[in-house]
Amino acid sequence: MSKPDAVEPATVHNAMNPDETPELRQLYADFEAGHMMPLWTQIGNLMPKHPMPRAVPHIWKWSDLYPLAKRSGDLVPVGRGGERRAIGLGNPGLEGRPYISPTLWCAIQYLGPRETAPEHRHAQNAFRFVIEGEGVWTVVNGDPVRMSRGDLLLTPGWNFHGHQNVTDKPMAWIDGLDIPFSYQNDVGFFEFGSEKLTDITTPQYSRGERLWCHPGLRPLSGLANTVSSPIGAYRWEHTDRALAEQLKLEEEGYPGVLEKGHAAVRFVNPTTGGDIMSTLRAEFHRLRAGAVSAERREVGSRVFQVFEGKGCVVLDGVSRILEKGDLFVIPSWISWSLQAESQFDLFSFSDAPIMERLNFDRTMINGQLS
Ligand SMILES: [Fe+2]
Repeated sequence: MSKPDAVEPATVHNAMNPDETPELRQLYADFEAGHMMPLWTQIGNLMPKHPMPRAVPHIWKWSDLYPLAKRSGDLVPVGRGGERRAIGLGNPGLEGRPYISPTLWCAIQYLGPRETAPEHRHAQNAFRFVIEGEGVWTVVNGDPVRMSRGDLLLTPGWNFHGHQNVTDKPMAWIDGLDIPFSYQNDVGFFEFGSEKLTDITTPQYSRGERLWCHPGLRPLSGLANTVSSPIGAYRWEHTDRALAEQLKLEEEGYPGVLEKGHAAVRFVNPTTGGDIMSTLRAEFHRLRAGAVSAERREVGSRVFQVFEGKGCVVLDGVSRILEKGDLFVIPSWISWSLQAESQFDLFSFSDAPIMERLNFDRTMINGQLS
């Protein structure tokens, strides 16, 4: 049995590395035959000094993604069985799996004119973020939710959902889910629902929004906390105003921004003040032109999509130019910093609720643990 190389440089003498003898070789061969693996030959791989992700930082250009999604629309019909015309982004470090990180799925989904994606439900939590376009409604447990530019829509685990495009134009958006986490931990369930949408009306606001989306007001019929947010869509007009006000407060000399020139908000469950769903965190960041964010490292993985503006991200010391729609992934403990050339708006999602719930969360800002 060959001994795997340790990830860490051999700076520490391994006191458990005796000279090879026929007896030692036989011992390792017997381990292998018995499906056993000694810790002492691979401790560096199993327990590195800090996270050593197999996933790598990577950028997908919207200018590459959208034409490929459109070609899928020309060639592949959407319907029962395949369920969605969604194309997952596969991290180059994760051996051909459709995972953007070990825990997160991110896909571009494309729905052509007048198409319907049938209803189904699954244990996996999901959201949609709309970079451009309109004309699609997502029906979540019978509640039609309009999808428009800048909106974040939730379909928490085990809620039936389907999509319909009521216009003559195609629409594309990104899907974020916890599929890799679910797959690797064998927690997934799936069920088909109605092939036709259970409600084909197209209201301006969903029933969930009409009940819940009034600042600081909670319906007395909804005092029980829920694991996932009851809000079907977080509208761009609210997100935009919240970010703009943070920057205005900064101009007036008041606190509110995350750091100099950097406004940021988190989308939360109004019943708990916590994350929108048990496995996924979503945020929106806005940097003034010329602003530079601190250098951060975080346990867990995070994905950004540029919503508007131009700038750079420095990933593990390498600067990359970003434009509208570009997506990038930051694997665990990879350093990152944003630099804004113009006003720079970015949507972000991560697996932070998992890491925090399990007490694995750790953040380093400008070299200091926070
Ligand atoms: Fe789904």
